[in-house]
Amino acid sequence: MSAFLYQNGSLHAENVSLTALAKEHGTPLYVYSRSAFEQAYLAYTVALGEWPHLVCFAVKTNSNLGVLNTLARLGAGFDIVSIGELERVIAAGGDPSKVVFSGVGKQAHEMQRALEVGVHCFNVESEAELERLSAVASELGKTAPVSLRVNPDVDAQTHPYISTGLKDNKFGIDINDAVRIYEKAAGLPGLNVKGVDCHIGSQLTEIDPFLDALDRVLALVDELSGRGITIEHLDLGGGLGVRYQDEQPATPAEYIAAVKERLGDRTFKLIFEPGRSIAANAGVFLTQVEFLKLNEHKNFAIIDGAMNDLIRPALYSAWQAIVPVSETSAEPERTYDLVGPVCETGDFLGKDRPLKIAAGDLLAVMSAGAYGFVMASNYNSRGRAAEIMVDGDKAFVVRERETVASLFAGESCLPD
Ligand code: LLP
Repeated sequence: MSAFLYQNGSLHAENVSLTALAKEHGTPLYVYSRSAFEQAYLAYTVALGEWPHLVCFAVKTNSNLGVLNTLARLGAGFDIVSIGELERVIAAGGDPSKVVFSGVGKQAHEMQRALEVGVHCFNVESEAELERLSAVASELGKTAPVSLRVNPDVDAQTHPYISTGLKDNKFGIDINDAVRIYEKAAGLPGLNVKGVDCHIGSQLTEIDPFLDALDRVLALVDELSGRGITIEHLDLGGGLGVRYQDEQPATPAEYIAAVKERLGDRTFKLIFEPGRSIAANAGVFLTQVEFLKLNEHKNFAIIDGAMNDLIRPALYSAWQAIVPVSETSAEPERTYDLVGPVCETGDFLGKDRPLKIAAGDLLAVMSAGAYGFVMASNYNSRGRAAEIMVDGDKAFVVRERETVASLFAGESCLPD
C-alpha cells in the first residue's frame, strides 16, 4: 500500500500532512516514508527467504543518512561507487562487510580505504582495474575479494542512458573475455576470486532480460569451474523497474522466484543491488505554485521546484505523476506545463498536465525517492532542498535546506 494517500482531502506521508510539512519547513522539499523504504527492502529479503543472500541497496539512488540508517537497521547491505558513498554508509551505521564496491573508475585511495574497512567484494570492471587492485591490496598486505562485472550483451529494453549491459556501453568486461581475465585474476597476488557480477540497466519492467543475462553468467560459471575457478556468489545487480505512470513492472517476489527457478539446484549466494525499486515510491517532492502564466497557446505553472532539484524530467524526459496536495479546488481545470525558475527551456518537471490550481497551491511530484535529491545541483545558485523522513505521525529533518551562505562557503575572491 502506498505511504502517500489523501486523508480528509489532503495528501499525507504516512500520518503526517504534507501541507503541515510545507508550512513548517518551506518548499521545495523532499519527503520520505520510513515504512515505504522498509517494506520495499523487505520485499526482497522475504522473497529470498532461506536462500543465502545479501540485498545491497544502491546508495547512488538516495544517499541520505536517514535513508541509509533506516535500511542498515534492517541489516541491509549497500552497493557503493565511491569513497564518499562508503563513508556515508559507515556514518549511517551500515556494516562495511556487507558492502559491494562497484564503478568503472575506482582510485587507489578508494581501494585502500575499502580494504581497510573490509568490504564484502569489489566488482571489478576492467583488466586495468584488476591490476591496480592487486597492487594496492598487496602493498597493504591484504587480500581483496573480487567479482568481475561482466557485460552479457543483452538488451535491457530501457532508456539508452540507463541501459548498461550492451557491448557498446562503458560498463563491465566483455563476457567473451571473462574466462581469460578470471584466470589472470586467479594468478594475481592480493586477490581472491569470489563471484560474478552483472548489472544490465535500470527501470526494467520485464524479467526476461534478467534471465537472459543470468543464463550467460551461468554458462560462464560452468566454464570457470571446469578450469578450477570456483564461484561463491552471483551478483545480479539492480535494475528492477517501478510504476511511474502505467508500467506494470515485475515485483521483487516474481523476479526472485524466476531467478531461483533458473538456478535449480545450484546454491550460489545471491547478491542484489536494487535502488529504484526500494526508493522511488518511498519519496515525493513538494513544490509550490508561484505564478500562473496563461498564454494564448500554452499555460505555464511556474513552481518553486526546478531541474536543479529534480533533473529526471529534463535529462531523460522522465514522466512522474504530479498531484495537488489538496484534493479539492474551485479552480477551473487547465492543461499546464510545470516549469521552474531556472533559466533553461529544459527546466520543467511535467508537461501537458491537467490540473485545477492557483498560485500558492502545493503540488507533489510522486515517485521522487530515487535519483531525486542525489542528482540535485546548485545550478543558478539555488540551495538544495531540505529532506524530511516521516515515521508514523512523526517527521524528522534528515537534511537541512542549504543556506545561501553555504553556496559559496568554500570559494574566495582573488588576493589584492
Ligand atoms: N548497481 C549498479 C552497478 C548500477 O549502476 C545501478 C544503477 C544500480 C545497481 C541500481 O539500479 P536500479 O535498481 O536503481 O535500477 N539516474 C537514472 C538511473 C541511473 C542508474 C544507474 N545505475 C534515473 O534517474 O533513471
